[in-house]
Amino acid sequence: MNYWFILNAVLFMSAVMLYIRDSSVAVLMAVCGLAFILFNWNMHAIFSKIRNLDNRNERIRIAGRARKIMPFHVVSGIVGLAFIVLHILLIYLRYDVTYMKFKAVSGGVAFAVLSAVVVSGYLRRKKATGKRRLAHLYLSMLLFWIMALHIIW
Ligand code: HEM
Ligand code: HEM
Repeated sequence: MNYWFILNAVLFMSAVMLYIRDSSVAVLMAVCGLAFILFNWNMHAIFSKIRNLDNRNERIRIAGRARKIMPFHVVSGIVGLAFIVLHILLIYLRYDVTYMKFKAVSGGVAFAVLSAVVVSGYLRRKKATGKRRLAHLYLSMLLFWIMALHIIW
């Protein structure tokens, strides 16, 4: 099984456990957003598999499947972003800004990187250059770790 897939599952389960401990609508929105974002992360597992396969027919078969997933990838990135915007709005309504200092800083950075991931995805879709491909991939990796920091700490 892909190493990133396991990390995704661990992060998602941690978020669900935190939601069970503190079941507010704000955190529920965050968990829903996270589900869409992590679903998108698994594109990397698919692409890594295509790159590592020797068998040409297998590569074509999986690349075809990846192409079919693409429309869902774009929609899911935007829906994930929308859920996170709701999470942020509800957090602001619920908390005193001084109380959530650290969470707000890590969350703010995560939100900035998430927006950059969506923009780089859009640019990559418009015209795929090597730089754009790497930008989307590396920003997604950075996003994973910043979200982990925001959620677990
Ligand atoms: C990509 C962006 C974001 C993601 C994926 C995200 C995800 C999450 C998740 C899954 C939780 C539940 C974990 C927990 O309760 O400790 C959470 C909690 C929280 N988030 Fe975010 N968040 C994001 C952005 C933000 C931003 C920008 C803020 C700042 C306003 C923020 C403020 C908070 C706060 C204060 C909590 C704790 C809520 C509580 O315990 O009741 N988040 N976030
Ligand atoms: C939550 C947001 C998103 C995340 C976490 C994400 C993550 C990823 C990852 C990890 C890959 C595989 C990269 C690789 O291994 O080379 C990928 C591919 C891609 N993403 Fe995203 N993405 C997001 C949103 C978007 C959006 C909004 C768009 C377009 C508007 C987009 C367009 C693309 C394209 C065009 C590819 C390449 C597909 C191909 O080569 O056939 N992504 N994305």
